[in-house]
Amino acid sequence: MSTEHTETNFTGIDISAVWPTEIRPRNCRFQVVNALQGLPFEDNTFDFVHQRFLIMGYPAKDWPFVIKELIRVTKPGGIIELTEIPIVSNANGPELTKLMEVLEQGCSSRGLDTKAAKKLEGMMREAGIQEVKGCHASIPVGAWGAKVGQLMRENSAGTWSSLKGFIKELTGMNDTQYEAMIKRIFVEYEHYKCYVNCYCAWGVKPHPAPRPEESSSTSYNIPATPSMSSSTTSPPYPQNPHPQH
Ligand SMILES: C[S@@+](CC[C@H](N)C(=O)[O-])C[C@H]1O[C@@H](n2cnc3c(N)ncnc32)[C@H](O)[C@@H]1O
Repeated sequence: MSTEHTETNFTGIDISAVWPTEIRPRNCRFQVVNALQGLPFEDNTFDFVHQRFLIMGYPAKDWPFVIKELIRVTKPGGIIELTEIPIVSNANGPELTKLMEVLEQGCSSRGLDTKAAKKLEGMMREAGIQEVKGCHASIPVGAWGAKVGQLMRENSAGTWSSLKGFIKELTGMNDTQYEAMIKRIFVEYEHYKCYVNCYCAWGVKPHPAPRPEESSSTSYNIPATPSMSSSTTSPPYPQNPHPQH
């Protein structure tokens, strides 16, 4: 994005130094930040703030604080966008169903909100964000879902690799058992046509209310949201016959 939009400055944060090192456009910087400790930026800094895939990162109780921080660093009239995929996928085979049960319980017992993806719009409204809209798309996991499905399959390999320690702890499996289970799950992806639902919500940070003495002379216009679809999107890949879960 920073290569395409050279007039825009981008700031990325993560609690780990996981950003790309091969390329570093001049208009792009990264910082190691633990969002749970507050964002190290002034109020009203950014025109657009985007957060994606933190469902395994934030305990349920901390979501309101983080959203408040995202709002604080956004300029009045700026856009805040959140994107999440629920922890549990859909159309799972028996092996994946079992694993998802264990994972969901493990996440809940650690205070994570496994349903946060579906609550994005509500949490944003509650935090005072205006003109909140949302959409979701079903994304195939596996070669059955053409190019996108293959990419999601590769992505899931990374996810299972990073969750290995956690799942071994939850199940008591050893490395060999874990790898064998993941292999079986990859077969199930194709057989059961596994898919995930990706939820996105966005809205506008309101301008401050005018002080009484200003109200007759100053008008506050809230800009329209960008031209994004406000209803469920139609993914550009084979539609999964299963209903949304
Ligand atoms: C699934 S990855 C998503 C990465 C990136 N946001 C994306 O969409 O590609 C989740 C990331 O959240 C980061 N993370 C977890 N807890 C965090 C926190 N408290 N503050 C900042 N980053 C955090 C992890 O280090 C990990 O890189």
